[in-house]
Amino acid sequence: MAELAPKVAIVTDDPGWHGRQLKEALAAHGLSSQYVSSMDCHMDIAEPGTEINLPGFEQDPLAVFVRGVPGGTLEQVIFRLNILHALSDMGIVVYNNPRGIERTVDKVMTSFLLKQAGIPTPNTWVCEAKEKAEFIYQRECGQGRKLVSKPLFGSQGVGVQLLDSDTGLFHDETFAGVYYLQSFIDCGDKDSFDIRVFVINGKAQAAMTRRSTHWITNRAQGAECEALKLDAELTQLSEAAVKAVGIDYGGVDLIPDAEGNLQVIEVNSIPAWWGLQKVTGFNIASSLIDDMVNRLGNANSLTVLP
Ligand SMILES: Nc1ncnc2c1ncn2[C@@H]1O[C@H](COP(=O)(O)OP(=O)(O)O)[C@@H](O)[C@H]1O
Ligand SMILES: [Mg+2]
Repeated sequence: MAELAPKVAIVTDDPGWHGRQLKEALAAHGLSSQYVSSMDCHMDIAEPGTEINLPGFEQDPLAVFVRGVPGGTLEQVIFRLNILHALSDMGIVVYNNPRGIERTVDKVMTSFLLKQAGIPTPNTWVCEAKEKAEFIYQRECGQGRKLVSKPLFGSQGVGVQLLDSDTGLFHDETFAGVYYLQSFIDCGDKDSFDIRVFVINGKAQAAMTRRSTHWITNRAQGAECEALKLDAELTQLSEAAVKAVGIDYGGVDLIPDAEGNLQVIEVNSIPAWWGLQKVTGFNIASSLIDDMVNRLGNANSLTVLP
């Protein structure tokens, strides 16, 4: 049987359902693929052209789909991102692009870029000094407002805390020495909800609401997903948010405030889509792979080995 080469690398430590979906979508394009843990990649900076080594790849991959980069020490995270940067610099399609991943993995840079682009996003204060954080906390929560405190590299709702005048300035080692304090957006409903919009290649493609009795409405925290029809405002805001951070595709989280004005609270460059796929007919994995394959230039053209 003909074997296809080179292969696509799916960077993940936990392939699961998403990994299988990607593999199937790649196979539909006649592309083989292999899961790669970024922890198992290594660099040999000796012979030019052979520096980056992905386990299972004797040749450079045709493309790299980044499904997960695990946390670690600062050095480990930088090294893992640098491998993606190096692959991209070599002309290999890395999807999402590493610069975009870097901007969005860090909630501070995302907030900054959203605000700079004029996209409605909650006011956010970031600092290292406890006195400064205490000052912001007193100023905001002393007026009866609430703040959300988040770990910079958090995801899926883990470690997010709600602060009010009774809680004090909660801060522990999960925040790794940086205070990220954001105005709490109260949608005014009995139940909390937010909206996830999936954007591929600059176009909003599918949306859902995530509803919960808890104010943290990530699906991973038990929120119920329900399909939502995209309207002009959701489309415009989510497309602008993805453009502001410069990613190829993404999951944009939005919350309406009590007046109904949408605020973008997060842009995810490695979003899960299990919950959204359950409530939409739009095939997310296929569309992602279609977009990635469209980016392959002639330099990486597919060869079929006998
Ligand atoms: N400023 C905010 N106001 C109200 N709710 C928020 C705010 N920020 C986050 N949340 C809630 O917490 C959830 C997780 O926050 P988010 O910033 O998306 O981080 P992550 O999903 O990376 O953990 C959101 O989906 C939303 O339900
Ligand atoms: Mg989120």
